[in-house]
Amino acid sequence: MNVVEIRDVSKRFKEHGKWFYVLNNVSLDVKEGEIFGLLGPNGAGKTTLLNILLGILTPDSGQARIFGKDVIKDRGILERVNFVSGETRFHWLLSVEDVLRFHGRSYGLKGEVIDKRIRELTKFFGIDDILNRKFFNLSTGQRMRLIFAKSLINDPRLVFFDEPTLGLDPSIAIKIRKEIKRINKEQGTTVLLTSHYMHEIEQLSDRIAFIHKGKIIDTGTVEKVKLKKFSTYDVFLNVREIKNRDYLKRNGFRILGKNRLQKELQLGESISGLLSSLANNGIDVTNIETRKPTLEDYFVKIMEEKK
Ligand SMILES: Nc1ncnc2c1ncn2[C@@H]1O[C@H](COP(=O)(O)OP(=O)(O)O)[C@@H](O)[C@H]1O
Ligand SMILES: [Mg+2]
Repeated sequence: MNVVEIRDVSKRFKEHGKWFYVLNNVSLDVKEGEIFGLLGPNGAGKTTLLNILLGILTPDSGQARIFGKDVIKDRGILERVNFVSGETRFHWLLSVEDVLRFHGRSYGLKGEVIDKRIRELTKFFGIDDILNRKFFNLSTGQRMRLIFAKSLINDPRLVFFDEPTLGLDPSIAIKIRKEIKRINKEQGTTVLLTSHYMHEIEQLSDRIAFIHKGKIIDTGTVEKVKLKKFSTYDVFLNVREIKNRDYLKRNGFRILGKNRLQKELQLGESISGLLSSLANNGIDVTNIETRKPTLEDYFVKIMEEKK
């Protein structure tokens, strides 16, 4: 089932008296239970797209549907959605509990239900011992956990994370990525994530869409998207001794040093065939490394093509 359906969405803004397209005929689907990564450089239109899905902005044309409902005509559907961004902050004098209660109430939760939800979530994120601590007294890690707890307060079936690790130090960013995976796995929540960090999207996403200047350039699993631009990967081998040079040459090995070889394989081609062929030709492999193209390689290639 498609949790998100975006069909031919366009949005223009006026800047210095001139109109420009922030989104230009964007279409994409997010399926139930997946982590979908929207990747693109700053200014690509990612946040604008999320704002359209949240009903904050209206598209000039096209449709945005969540669970099959048009977000403009059927605002009730937004009760099943939640949203946080790397820029989310709360009033400095509110306590952990105040923040969650406030946001719970804004989703219409009351009494026992909200108490239970606050208990569950603060436990899940390990902040149940600091319920009364004010926002300004929280560490970066505790703030991050509170922001995640807020994002689940209404038991959403779909959460948007807009640049969740923007400007955070790497150790916190790693924790955030773990939490996103955990929310998706343990709560079964569908996640739509935006980021301009390629490794983040690569690490988390089941599928991605690459957005550039308001247009979707490519979409699919990370592996598939990369496959469109790269068809090979490199294997580096350490061997006990280099012999049978004829065989090596015929089979496309490059000799890099006294004990080191390199060979290019097709993506999807297995290494075991390579190893048994080497063994059959008397070459003893002591170590093997592979270097596959990353999303970053893909991104660089796309940007070069766009120039
Ligand atoms: N309300 C607005 N009015 C005018 N321009 C805007 C508005 N919101 C965003 N933009 C512009 O639209 C472009 C895309 O913005 P945004 O969706 O925030 O990109 P991203 O989230 O991918 O960095 C940027 O050039 C931004 O300056
Ligand atoms: Mg943004």
